[in-house]
Amino acid sequence: MSFNVAIDGPAGAGKSTVAKSVAALKNFIYVDTGAMYRAMALYFLRQGIDKTDENAINAVLDKVEITIRYENGAQQVILNGENVSGLIRTEEVGNMASATSVYKKVREKLVELQKNLAKKADVIMDGRDIGTCVLPDADVKVYLTASSAVRAKRRYNELKEKGTACDLDEIEKDIIERDYRDMHRENSPLKQADDAVLLDSSDMTLKEVVDTITAMIDKKQ
Ligand code: C5P
Repeated sequence: MSFNVAIDGPAGAGKSTVAKSVAALKNFIYVDTGAMYRAMALYFLRQGIDKTDENAINAVLDKVEITIRYENGAQQVILNGENVSGLIRTEEVGNMASATSVYKKVREKLVELQKNLAKKADVIMDGRDIGTCVLPDADVKVYLTASSAVRAKRRYNELKEKGTACDLDEIEKDIIERDYRDMHRENSPLKQADDAVLLDSSDMTLKEVVDTITAMIDKKQ
């Protein structure tokens, strides 16, 4: 049986950074499910599909194939044969992913892929519905959060480091809107699973968060 770790939480809580570190320490495979929703969103954007047009989205779903592979331990997302990992980290794609991940058929397609990956290997998977829907029997479940102000500041620093012009208030507004949409959608809303451990990273260092989760895994293994 594979050992599965689920990490859920809002945008910018540090899930991917934490999950990558824990994966490296424990020799698990890191699965970034947000990247799959982003790759799908990139397809819809390229097709010029309106994000509110669920019928148009359902109609093209059979033409979208998302797979992942690993290069030097880093997850690569493949959209119909093309490695799109370098194209999905924009605000435009993130907002489209948030808007189109509300649709049932979009979720069904990606959840199936995610469940299959977790069956085959020891994984640490991050997303919004991992502990509640994708891996309800995960061995360790964490709900990682931080205040919207802290998350906005982290995102602002990241963008500034890349030389991208940005506005802190705009970023926080965007984060609050995205949280609201993720938490209030009908299908698989973001929420803490009953058996998940809540970690608020607002006043924790990356190392403290990583050490806490690693200790939780060690206790169960
Ligand atoms: O985590 P990331 O920001 O890359 O995810 C992009 C969007 O995909 C999120 O805003 C969320 O709406 C959606 N998502 C989801 N379920 C997941 C992972 C991501 O609905 N398991």
